[in-house]
Amino acid sequence: MSTSQEGRVRLGRRAVVAAVGAAGAAAALAACGGSKEQDGARTVRPAEGGGGGAVLARTADIPEGGGTVFGDRGVVVTQPKAGIFKAFSSTCTHQGCAVKEVTGNTINCPCHGSTFDAATGEVTGGPATQALPGKSIQVEGDSITLA
Ligand code: FES
Repeated sequence: MSTSQEGRVRLGRRAVVAAVGAAGAAAALAACGGSKEQDGARTVRPAEGGGGGAVLARTADIPEGGGTVFGDRGVVVTQPKAGIFKAFSSTCTHQGCAVKEVTGNTINCPCHGSTFDAATGEVTGGPATQALPGKSIQVEGDSITLA
């Protein structure tokens, strides 16, 4: 007798847990759907950021004789001469630190002091021995995008 009652109780608890779980999942789905509808940028960004096409920067954001590091995109964009834009991986070829800044047409790694030519990515100062790999970009009007 008691066994069947315990069985019923257990079954009852499972049923309650299942019901709460289903309700929780439904609430989570509702909350998730609601935030997507309210924040259109979140639903647009993955499509734009999946590859090329997303605007990386405006040309005005890249100083002549310098550059800008976009660490979240793993790229550094330089402007070695007026109107000439170049892009390289922002990962230092020495030990993988992120390069930090571009000054005087030199891309600088803060970890051990390696420097790279802002026009070619070639090493201008060690300990790095390999150039920064180039990245393809497109400049249309004042927009720079990763190709
Ligand atoms: Fe850049 Fe060492 S990781 S200089």
